[in-house]
Amino acid sequence: MTVSTRTPSALAAALRDIQAPVQRELELVPGEIRRIVTADVPLVQEVGDHLLSMKGKLLRPTLVLLAGSVEERLDPARAITCAAVVELLHLATLIHDDAVDHSVLRRGMPTVNSLFSHQVSVIMGDFLYSRVMRELVALEDIEVMRVVSNASDAMTLGEMRQLAAFDALAFTEADYERLIRAKTSALFVAACAVGALSGAPSHMQALARYGERLGMAFQVADDLLDYTETAAMTGKPSGLDLREHKVTLPLIAALRTMSPAARVQVEALFATSEPSEASVNEVIALVRDAGGLDYARRRAEQFAQEAEEAIAELPHGAARNALYDAIGYAVDRRW
Ligand code: IPE
Ligand code: IPE
Ligand code: MG
Ligand code: MG
Repeated sequence: MTVSTRTPSALAAALRDIQAPVQRELELVPGEIRRIVTADVPLVQEVGDHLLSMKGKLLRPTLVLLAGSVEERLDPARAITCAAVVELLHLATLIHDDAVDHSVLRRGMPTVNSLFSHQVSVIMGDFLYSRVMRELVALEDIEVMRVVSNASDAMTLGEMRQLAAFDALAFTEADYERLIRAKTSALFVAACAVGALSGAPSHMQALARYGERLGMAFQVADDLLDYTETAAMTGKPSGLDLREHKVTLPLIAALRTMSPAARVQVEALFATSEPSEASVNEVIALVRDAGGLDYARRRAEQFAQEAEEAIAELPHGAARNALYDAIGYAVDRRW
């Protein structure tokens, strides 16, 4: 994909094309999610309805279904349940992440913490995790259970590591990569691996490797969007990472070449508990001028290249082509 195709309508069409080979199964995922989270507790229903009304990209369920389709031997019922489980795990982490990040906007709608409360976010996230577990037990597939529980473990440890970073500006690129491998890539790996288990087990390793590299590219791109796009485009607040003192790749790269005077400005932002919009915008400009955005963009493209290499040997067909196109989408997307 090239820059000229980055209009919202071209990107929406690109996502539709990626999902086309598994559209029939993907349409059944929201209903499967609803079945899994149904509970006879009014507040759970209310929060659940809110969550189901927020439309995400459904990228992880798409990966489950595409990965399971590379040999055209997909077990659809199993794959749809796995796709729902993976999306629910994603939703649980988003609810907790928004509470931890004090975010008010997600998928263009109020977050659970802003619409309900911090307490409801904590418990609803836990509830989704417990329904994931229950569904995995009902599936009686120890391999799927192993894959999903490993991802959940890695993601939680990743988020905890991010919280515990005491000297944010000392965060290195290696620290950053370790963090995003855990908090984001782990679930992409799980999506591709459970997909493989539902229809293409002999390609499990290649698909998992693809998921790992794609997840890295996806998170670097997400961290770029926080610097470059508006909330109207992404459906979540922009500049939030800096406001929350989260150090991501654009800043890590920029700090290496920044002038001492610019660095003082960055340090001042990190010393302010609630930085103003103006100071966030100033630091964004400093990061851009120091080449931080270009560096992160190039790094995302390297991860994307590695994701391409990972699936080079897969059987040719619509599913593989869509997995291939998902790579371009992950780095060129704007929300
Ligand atoms: C957001 O994921 C969390 C990250 C790992 C950056 P998505 O960008 O896939 O969110 P939705 O599901 O489409 O809302
Ligand atoms: C990804 O990090 C969140 C998880 C993997 C849970 P971010 O904090 O950047 O995600 P967004 O930007 O809130 O979607
Ligand atoms: Mg967040
Ligand atoms: Mg983000």
